[in-house]
Amino acid sequence: MSCVNDWTRSFSLSETASIKDTLKHTVSADEEAVGKDLIRASFYLVHEALSQLTPEDIEILEWHHRRYYDWMLDLKQKATTNELAPKSDRWAQASEGTRHLLIDKAEKSGITGELTVRIGKNLLPIMRRETAPLELMLEGGLLTRIYQQQEHISRAAVSAAKLIRAIADENPEIQILEIGAGTEGATIPMLEALYSTKGPHFKHLDFTDISPGFLQSARERLSHWGGAISFSTLDIEKDVEEQGFRLGSYDVILAVLVLHATKNMEKTMTNVRKLLKDGSKLVLVETALECIDVSLIFGSLPGWWLSEELERKLSPNMPLSAWNKVLRRTGFSGTDLDVWDCENEQHRYTCCILSTATPSQPPVFERSATIVYSSDSPPSSDWTLSLMERIVHETSVTPALSDLKGFDATGKVCIFLSGLNGAQSYDEESFNHIKALLTKSRSVLWVTIGSTMDCRIPENAIHFRYNTYSPTRGH
Ligand SMILES: C[S@@+](CC[C@H](N)C(=O)[O-])C[C@H]1O[C@@H](n2cnc3c(N)ncnc32)[C@H](O)[C@@H]1O
Repeated sequence: MSCVNDWTRSFSLSETASIKDTLKHTVSADEEAVGKDLIRASFYLVHEALSQLTPEDIEILEWHHRRYYDWMLDLKQKATTNELAPKSDRWAQASEGTRHLLIDKAEKSGITGELTVRIGKNLLPIMRRETAPLELMLEGGLLTRIYQQQEHISRAAVSAAKLIRAIADENPEIQILEIGAGTEGATIPMLEALYSTKGPHFKHLDFTDISPGFLQSARERLSHWGGAISFSTLDIEKDVEEQGFRLGSYDVILAVLVLHATKNMEKTMTNVRKLLKDGSKLVLVETALECIDVSLIFGSLPGWWLSEELERKLSPNMPLSAWNKVLRRTGFSGTDLDVWDCENEQHRYTCCILSTATPSQPPVFERSATIVYSSDSPPSSDWTLSLMERIVHETSVTPALSDLKGFDATGKVCIFLSGLNGAQSYDEESFNHIKALLTKSRSVLWVTIGSTMDCRIPENAIHFRYNTYSPTRGH
């Protein structure tokens, strides 16, 4: 017989900063340089289009291209005040040759560069309604490749996937909903994170998008992941219950680069909240800093300009502070955790945000817990007192305190402090007390230290022998 132990950090017990540390990325100076060039190339493409648009063109712009045009003017202004880069006020003076060189270089730099230049070189026909931008984006599958391969999006999607796996490690029965799942750019990293040799670490995934066109291809491409995935349309701006979704039924909602594409963020987030169980998690990826090449590409489409709020007039995206506020206003805890796609401050723009659905009513704890200690190695009284204070703070119920010896555990919820101040004794008498604790109590949280990971007190690892772990029943 063989036995495998999986050791993972407890997500709910970890400090945010330590979770964040495991998700950080630093990118190379080369990637950063490509990003800088792309901003400058985007500026030249916009500058060129602005210089060619006639007053007659401007007069008859479509509603969304009028907003796109305002964004272009704002970009030109920002260059003159050095807001795009140090000395960007001099960019407009560059020779034609320099501009073309930079645009050619950007085009060859990767998928984003290729798409930026493809749209940028067609700005005039796009705004004159002679060319459809979506068709340009779809040519050669470039749009799909952006969501699946673009570095900023991929890094953030991997962070989102790791967070969801960490949540699933504590509850492998999670029900997941992905909103605006589109080309599976975030679905595949999530599934890769959620499957192990032992099978899936989730119960069910609802793959959804407003556009039914994505569902058939997703059904085909994700078929080898098994039957725990269903596919349906969902417009997150509309009544979710009327669309056949059960309120309060999801443990995790994933939405990658989708929620900004809605008209009214407060209404959108209220709908998202309705679908989550109290205390469950929302994992978002959003562009939380202005990214000029992304605005140039997607600003050509009407969907980029749907936002009704004044703060989202020049871009549908919101900074982290605005996300925090809207989350708090709509039944979430705010941004519990935010991880940028990379640590390089001048280069990042995509952020993975974690938030919790706050219960509308505070939870009621009817039962008090008993803190059980062993008199062979009792924890310090200060530590025990602070634990009791924390429990009172979290549950509003005062825990009882009892020595293991002589404690009647029948039907009680117990927190057993085992060997926190040295090795736990396992002589015959103590063993019988522990046995009674485990067999008679309603549930036991076994708290010990350093027993396995660094083996400071190997004897404390004996709880392995006592406990069997069942993911659905808990410890
Ligand atoms: C920027 S794409 C991101 C797609 C996806 N995460 C991926 O990796 O392909 C935005 C997606 O959101 C969808 N979408 C737009 N508005 C929506 C809405 N109101 N409700 C649900 N999905 C929406 C679009 O159809 C599109 O697939």
